[in-house]
Amino acid sequence: MDTALVSVEGLTKVYEGAGLFGRRRWSVQAVSDVSFTIRRGETFALVGESGCGKSSIARLVLRLMEPTAGRICFAGEPLAAMNRTQLKAQRRRMQIVFQDPMASLNPRKTIGHILGQPLAVHRGGRPAHYLDEIHQALDLVGLRPPEQFIRRLPHEFSGGQRQRIAIARALMLRPELIVADEPVSALDVSIRAQILALMKRLQGELGLTYLFITHDLGVVRSIAHRVAVMYLGKIVEIGDVASIFVAPRHPYTAALLSASPIPDPQVSWRHRRIVLKGDVPSPANPPSGCRFHPRCPAAMPLCGTVAPPTREVAPGHLVACHLNDAAMAANAACFRSERTQR
Ligand SMILES: Nc1ncnc2c1ncn2[C@@H]1O[C@H](COP(=O)(O)OP(=O)(O)O)[C@@H](O)[C@H]1O
Ligand SMILES: [Mg+2]
Repeated sequence: MDTALVSVEGLTKVYEGAGLFGRRRWSVQAVSDVSFTIRRGETFALVGESGCGKSSIARLVLRLMEPTAGRICFAGEPLAAMNRTQLKAQRRRMQIVFQDPMASLNPRKTIGHILGQPLAVHRGGRPAHYLDEIHQALDLVGLRPPEQFIRRLPHEFSGGQRQRIAIARALMLRPELIVADEPVSALDVSIRAQILALMKRLQGELGLTYLFITHDLGVVRSIAHRVAVMYLGKIVEIGDVASIFVAPRHPYTAALLSASPIPDPQVSWRHRRIVLKGDVPSPANPPSGCRFHPRCPAAMPLCGTVAPPTREVAPGHLVACHLNDAAMAANAACFRSERTQR
């Protein structure tokens, strides 16, 4: 059986528009020639600074908007080839959880209604007909006893409880893929750990596949199996979390890791930050060559003119960088010694 649930090839999204009176056309290349696959049952994380194109990829994978170029297959089927009926059937198999449950849950509807709604839409009838399923879902996400929840409104709950409700809603149609776009970024640290633990448990019990979007490497470390690091619409590095956290190859990944105090009992942190020059440039006018070159501590003249190809530096570990293997390995080694020295 094919182990890829989602495969994305050459995905590109350009937002375009015109200013007032049709003048000054603008365009933003939010996602630029991105390729990756998500295996069944894994948590695949997309990580990168705000504005690098993560949410755009989420919307493209769910086909909430059309790509400018590239293709996306879900369970082996190209999304672009599907008609409305097929798409509706397919949508049931993929659901989304957003950062802010207060904004994504209808404030005027009861929890029972919110959870019954997806079933009513897909199977007919009214939300209240699905009381058994609603109870089961609340129980599954640890909101017990369910009777205490169904008649109340979203604002009566804490942020963590609301995110549990949003997760329960995403599970109502028994999806295979959950796209979680910064699902814990708005939560306090202690609650964040509980929601991550819940998502891990649900993955084990239901065999879910996650596309997990976050700007926080600590979160990646605690939940993801594989990670793609994005910079200005491009993936700069992809690999197993275990190997990327120990030996990042791309200078951007190394800089991100050095700036993020990840609690790890195995490693004592010296926490010497690699400080990046300047700000993230605008995707409306991305730098030539490697998009990271103006801020890269290891940039060479070539980097300003030629976009780096993506190479496989170890099995399943892909990097888009002009540095040769020796330079990248040195990067990794130096990073490792920095992390372990004290
Ligand atoms: N609907 C839109 N119209 C125009 N530009 C957009 C739109 N959505 C996102 N962008 C721009 O595309 C880039 C990527 O945005 P986004 O995918 O939301 O990134 P992230 O989720 O990583 O913060 C940003 O520069 C953002 O301003
Ligand atoms: Mg986003």
